Amino acid sequence: FFATAEAVSYTGATPVFADIDAGTFNLDPGSFRNKINSKTRAVIAVHLFGQCAALDEISDICTTHELLLVEDCAQALGADYDGVRAGSWGDFGCFSFYPTKNLGAAGDAGLVTTKHKKHDETLRVLRHHGSRQTYLHERVGWNSRLDELQAAVLRVKLRRLEEFNDARRRVAQRYRSKLQSAPLALPSENGRGRHAYHQFTVRSERRDAIREALAREGIASSIFYPLPLHRQPAYEPSNRGLTLPAAEAAAKSVLSLPIHPLLEDRAIDRICACIQQSAR
Ligand SMILES: Cc1ncc(COP(=O)(O)O)c(C=O)c1O
Repeated sequence: FFATAEAVSYTGATPVFADIDAGTFNLDPGSFRNKINSKTRAVIAVHLFGQCAALDEISDICTTHELLLVEDCAQALGADYDGVRAGSWGDFGCFSFYPTKNLGAAGDAGLVTTKHKKHDETLRVLRHHGSRQTYLHERVGWNSRLDELQAAVLRVKLRRLEEFNDARRRVAQRYRSKLQSAPLALPSENGRGRHAYHQFTVRSERRDAIREALAREGIASSIFYPLPLHRQPAYEPSNRGLTLPAAEAAAKSVLSLPIHPLLEDRAIDRICACIQQSAR
């Protein structure tokens, strides 16, 4: 999602785009390694669609090259990798509670985690106009505090996060069993931990036809994302000539199916029947 690159640009740094792994849609560690040069300071691993990126390999590369690891966990709250929760592998973990997320507020909200005391202090100062003490501003920051009302909503919903993520996994499992024989690629699991199934994203050359067939039945589906970041007007001029084949191919073939904790078996079966007919 565009916000990840924007966050880099806001600091004055330049985002450098690496390719994805075609199966999981997450950062390809080999592509990341090839992009490192003397100016590289950090990497943001986006845990796309609810599954953690290859955190062991990415962490090793960061250690070797002395880079900070920032995890974008916006879509992966509750996911884990080798038994460690998303957001606690890296130096920082960034979470979004935008209403559509697995834990959604009633408006915009988010959270940053860090392992380091020093960074924790910096974050607390930055989110409050660079201030520790009222009307004394030691640096330029933002108004980026978690709104109390949103925090109250989130605190109540947080109790049910695990239950809701389990329900999402059950929906994903039913999609897998019902779409086993369909001529499309089901999302790959890396087998390293729990997927939070923020999205259930399939791939097909006939993506647009499937999408239209679903729409005719009144079933919503989404394309995340139709244009890779290096092709976005804001970043294209500084990335002319850059080719990221796996990301570009994914943009042309991905389709995210409806998924939420309360999606009933009947509805899943209807969606799958429609896909089975239109995918051929
Ligand atoms: C992967 C990813 N990163 C960052 C964001 C930005 O989060 P927010 O909308 O809370 O700024 C989102 C979603 O909105 C996202 O999906």
